[in-house]
Amino acid sequence: MDFITKQLNRVSMRSYSNKKISELDMNKIKNVINESATSYNGQQFSAIIVNDKTMKEKLSIISGKQKHIIECDTFILFLADFNRISLANDIYVENNKEVSEKELTLKYDNLNSLLYGFVDATISAQATVDAASSLGIDSCYIGAIRNGASEVQKLFNLPNYVVPVVGITLGYGNKTDERKPKINKVYTNCYPQNQIKEEINNYEIETNKYYTNHRDANNTYANNTIKAYRMWNSGKFMDSLTLLWPNNWLDSKKK
Ligand SMILES: Cc1cc2nc3c(=O)[nH]c(=O)nc-3n(C[C@H](O)[C@H](O)[C@H](O)COP(=O)(O)O)c2cc1C
Repeated sequence: MDFITKQLNRVSMRSYSNKKISELDMNKIKNVINESATSYNGQQFSAIIVNDKTMKEKLSIISGKQKHIIECDTFILFLADFNRISLANDIYVENNKEVSEKELTLKYDNLNSLLYGFVDATISAQATVDAASSLGIDSCYIGAIRNGASEVQKLFNLPNYVVPVVGITLGYGNKTDERKPKINKVYTNCYPQNQIKEEINNYEIETNKYYTNHRDANNTYANNTIKAYRMWNSGKFMDSLTLLWPNNWLDSKKK
């Protein structure tokens, strides 16, 4: 199956068999992660491969007891990482004795740094999903690790300015969910504000059919998504990030 056909048939896999990913395939995935594009080639991300069962169990609990984290062969944690930039700055300063006092201290306490890290980590995560797919390996993103960002920090002893962005479960699925219908999100030469609500209304009907087939007759796109947003608005995620990004812009916003 070619790459586009695979992409069009892709679904998140939440049920895995015991089949192991070969070392050869894992090495291919590692190389893809290392080669992914990053802002300025700054490489503001790291990835931790987790195949230890106890660690996967802990990550599953942090993520709200998602069983596919334990079941999968390999979990990969993607981190926004400004620790590397901080150490690169130390090297730069050591090698450039003439730099001014003002230049000595790099600041990461801004939204920009956090976004660079998040974008780099996310691009490498998607490269992983694509590489896995091309090798016939199933996957599922796990964003819920961010709900316990400080627990993840403790588990891996992460230094400051290293924050979890997303995890990915990898393995061989033993049952495939029906593909979820998707709303159109691609426009040409304009952003058609006046047609978007109608598109959502049509999508409500389509998603209600999907959920009805999956024994959840009252569910729809809006229902499903907005319930999740109301939960996240509790602020737990932001508090967690504040712990990991010391003196950051989030702190200054609170004052
Ligand atoms: C950033 C991100 C975080 C996600 N987090 C989770 C998660 O914690 N657990 C989970 O089971 N699926 C998670 N997903 C998968 C989505 O639920 C899934 O992509 C969406 O429902 C569409 O289904 P599909 O991938 O099968 O098309 C996440 C996806 C993304 C992109």
